[in-house]
Amino acid sequence: MTLVDEIRRLRKQKKAILLAHNYQRPEIQDIADYVGDSIGLCRRAMEEKDAKIIIFSAVDFMAESAAILNPDKKVFIPSLGARCPMAHMLPAEDVRLWKKKHPGEPVVLYVNTLAESKAECDVCCTSANAVKVVNSLDADTVIFGPDNNLAWNVQQKTGKKIISIPKDGFCPTHLLFQEEEILFLKEEYPDAVVAVHPECTPEVQSIADFVGSTSQICEYARESSAKKYLIGTEVGIIHRLEKENPDKIFIPAYDGAVCTNMKLNTLKRIYLSLKEERYPVTVPDSVARKARKALERMVAIPK
Ligand code: 13P
Ligand code: SF4
Repeated sequence: MTLVDEIRRLRKQKKAILLAHNYQRPEIQDIADYVGDSIGLCRRAMEEKDAKIIIFSAVDFMAESAAILNPDKKVFIPSLGARCPMAHMLPAEDVRLWKKKHPGEPVVLYVNTLAESKAECDVCCTSANAVKVVNSLDADTVIFGPDNNLAWNVQQKTGKKIISIPKDGFCPTHLLFQEEEILFLKEEYPDAVVAVHPECTPEVQSIADFVGSTSQICEYARESSAKKYLIGTEVGIIHRLEKENPDKIFIPAYDGAVCTNMKLNTLKRIYLSLKEERYPVTVPDSVARKARKALERMVAIPK
């Protein structure tokens, strides 16, 4: 039996589902029950009523969100080290300090945060719904973190005053994209359109034809009539884009944009995760209860 056959057999036997983020290795995406962005993965985890186990092939904060939203299911992450560095840039005690500095202002936290920090906020958001979430609040000023670039995007699109916390919160992978390099590539591929993630710098976002979450970029590519795309997000997404659009060409705006944390997961680790039921993702009840409120409030906002 091949590794893929073994994974399929165990998945069935244990009533398990495999959820994978759009940045996962091609061979993982190809056998996953669902491949998507952060909000898509959250929703799918909640929709899978019969599943007893979720193998979450992504990074820590995504698996944690699934565990918080699905207390009746066992959630496992195949690699212990798969941690999003940005999610660790805004510890809960810092959120508390910012709240003290700006009393009464609502706090919106990107899902790329740890559960303890989520427990301190009013509502969570992803890159797909950040503008909707902020617009849903009856407030002209909003505390927003931890991604300064997504905060900039939200400020532009909502016109509200955004207090971006911490002072320097960013995704190391998306910081690798450069405006000058993309302009240079546009000269090389004059008929290409540029689609980037809002974790890219304001300069990069400003020269893009489309800015959106990973799944929104996939949707844009499916619906657009353009034949060539310069893609400004982690290179793992190219596999899905090519699979869904065999007649179109996708060029990474920087081919070194690899999130090493996302890439820790392998087929072998997924097999071991299923077989040995490791590594369990658990959140203490007192934290989960508060974080769940912020996540459920986000999920309740229509797509
Ligand atoms: P998406 O929700 O757009 O998939 O983004 C998650 C992420 O970590 C981007 O770096
Ligand atoms: Fe975190 Fe950036 Fe990796 Fe996304 S790409 S998981 S934000 S480090």
